[in-house]
Formats: sequence, C-alpha cells, structure tokens
Amino acid sequence: EKKKNLQGKRLIVTAGATIEAIDPVRFISNHSSGKMGYAIAGELADRGACVTLVTGRTELPTPAGVERVDVLSAAEMYDAAVRAFEGSDGAVMCAAVADYTPDRVSDTKIKKCDGDMCITLRRTRDIAAELGAHKDGRLLVGFALETHDEQAHAEAKLEKKNFDFIVLNSLRDAGAGFRGDTNKVTFIDRTGREELPLLSKREVAERIAERIEEFFAE
Ligand code: PMT
Repeated sequence: EKKKNLQGKRLIVTAGATIEAIDPVRFISNHSSGKMGYAIAGELADRGACVTLVTGRTELPTPAGVERVDVLSAAEMYDAAVRAFEGSDGAVMCAAVADYTPDRVSDTKIKKCDGDMCITLRRTRDIAAELGAHKDGRLLVGFALETHDEQAHAEAKLEKKNFDFIVLNSLRDAGAGFRGDTNKVTFIDRTGREELPLLSKREVAERIAERIEEFFAE
C-alpha cells in the first residue's frame, strides 16, 4: 500500500501511439506500445490520484482505478485531452503523437499502379503546447524522445510547451524508449538535470510520481 499523497488530485496521462488513416486499410503510426504511459497512470492512481488515461491503441490492460479514454488519431487525442484538462490539476504527456497526418483520407482502398505515389501530409495540432498555453499554474510534464542533440532538443521543448519538467529518453541508450519494459531517462527543468540509471518503466513512473508530489507540496 502506497501513501495516498496525491489524494484529491485529478491528473491526465496521455499514452501510446496515434494512428493516422491513409485509407480504410493503411495508416501512419509509430512504435509506442503505451507501456511507459500506462506505468505512470497506474503509479499515480496507486498514490491516490484520480487519473484519466487518454490512450492510443494498445494491447495493455487498464491499470487499476484508472479511467480510460480510447482514441485513434492525433486529432481525437487532442479533443479528449483538452476536454479532460478542464477541471484537472495537471497532465503528463507521454503519448507519441503524429506530427503530420494525411491531407485527405480516401474512402476506398487506394489501388496501386506502376508508378510511385505521393501522399501530402499536413501538420497536426500540438496537444502539449495547447495545454501549456492554458496551464494557469497547473502541473504539466512532458516527454522528449530524441536520437541526437538530446539535451538541446529537450530544453527547447521544455520552453516551447511550457512544461514544469521534461523526461528525456534517447534511442541511443540501450534499453530506453519504445516497447521494452525498461527506460533510461533524464529529468530536465529550469534548475538543472538529473540523470537516472536504467530502470523498469514502473520504477521510472515512481520517480516521476515523486517529482509530481513535490510539485504539489510546494
Ligand atoms: O509507449 P512505450 O513503448 O513504452 O514508449 C515510451 C515512449 C518512448 C513513447 C515515451 O517514453 C516517450 O518518449 N513519449 C513521447 C514521445 C514523443 O512523441 O516525443 P516528442 O519529442 O515527439 O514530443 C514532445 C512532447 O510533446 C511529448 O510530451 C508528446 O507527448 C507531446 N506532443 C507531441 C506532439 C503533439 N502533437 N502533441 C503532443 O502532446
């Protein structure tokens, strides 16, 4: 039994990959399994928070005591997250959200021909930046998944999206990032950075939850 230090807090967690349809049989997505976000949702609920998990399609069971909202596309995740953020005390943005979506979705299966083809993509809206712009003192935690210039990119996202802190994970680190049960992360905020060793995703979730408790204690 964990101490219920987050009792009375309403928190949102986004998790998993979004899916952008091209036609009825094809889509654009990414490798997120949802494991990191589900571990966070479960950990926050165990500490007494009332958690809404806005999730892309995953194979994972819903963590105990968590309210789950299923979405497919980045646009659906945007709507669900913005709605849930109203009346909440904060959000943890762990989802891997598509930055681009097909300009139009074909109603019928696109038939192949001999030549190459081109799909025009347009930008999706940034969910975290939208919540960050209307934060009003609430908690906002972000993630950054990087492959190079990790620190600089994470710091830029911290500022641009108005996060309280950002959790950096790099695909250059073995055992970090997508799909596995472990992650290697660095916390970055405006006072500095804290590099953690390779941990299970649940242990990373515990460390994130401790920082969230400190945020609300201040
Ligand atoms: O799900 P797993 O298999 O366990 O993998 C975990 C993970 C690698 C997906 C996770 O640890 C992680 O890093 N999630 C964020 C991935 C990501 O898309 O990062 P980003 O650097 O592209 O985005 C920066 C931040 O903005 C993130 O908090 C993201 O959720 C948010 N964002 C991005 C785009 C967008 N349109 N809306 C957003 O809210």
